[in-house]
Amino acid sequence: MLYYRIPMQIIVARNYESLSQKAADFVVSAILLKPSLVLALPTGSTPLGMYKFLVELYNRKKVDFSQVKVFDLDEYCGLTPEHSQSYAFYLRHNFLSQVNLKKENIHLQDGLLDVSQASQYSKQFEETIEEVGGIDLAILGIGRNGHIGFNEPGSKVDSLTRVIDLDDKTIQDNSRFFENISEVPRKAVTMGIGTILNSQKILLLAAGKNKAEVINSSMEGPVTVRVPASILQRHPAVTIILDQDAASQLKRKE
Ligand code: PGA
Repeated sequence: MLYYRIPMQIIVARNYESLSQKAADFVVSAILLKPSLVLALPTGSTPLGMYKFLVELYNRKKVDFSQVKVFDLDEYCGLTPEHSQSYAFYLRHNFLSQVNLKKENIHLQDGLLDVSQASQYSKQFEETIEEVGGIDLAILGIGRNGHIGFNEPGSKVDSLTRVIDLDDKTIQDNSRFFENISEVPRKAVTMGIGTILNSQKILLLAAGKNKAEVINSSMEGPVTVRVPASILQRHPAVTIILDQDAASQLKRKE
């Protein structure tokens, strides 16, 4: 573990469209350099535009996913992969089913895992990542509480894939996707902070005014488990793509 702050590459895009395009270009460049790239994939509103551009670039034959391997960062516990709010459904619908990824190269977290067997499940998930040589590029969103994946505040720096209780702020924020806040799952399975930090490269995306404060505290504040994304200051290869609203409280830009 490194104990000094490493400068992160911060790119401020004109708007959400441009952020999404830059993120897709970043991923495509990485695949061109390494066709068998191993990706960790995020969900949420922020990466939707990136997925749209990736599908578009695939349709224009600018990128080939036939050797790419993917893992999803997280999943709600208790939702089937067919549930419209499960992350498996989101990823299949917005990305996986629209490009030429091979079925055997898609590794999705199991929201229906038996929580009493979580440690065995976690071990297997981590081993599968190791078997393919580790994650080359982890793409992340960020919650208003600084979570990355579903690593809520308090998550340990060396945490691995595990079941976690969702934070009240996360339940509140994600209730917009459900009919009623009571329907939002209270637990999730997520790659750990340690799993994410073990990735060769990290790409974090954030858009909108409601992310400005957490972007400022994550990128320019102290490294603390209270703001999980702040630990990214200690990873040697992090790129952050923001829109102007999300960047509005940063002192250092580009
Ligand atoms: P959002 O979620 O993109 O929907 O804001 C990000 C996250 O919670 O990681």
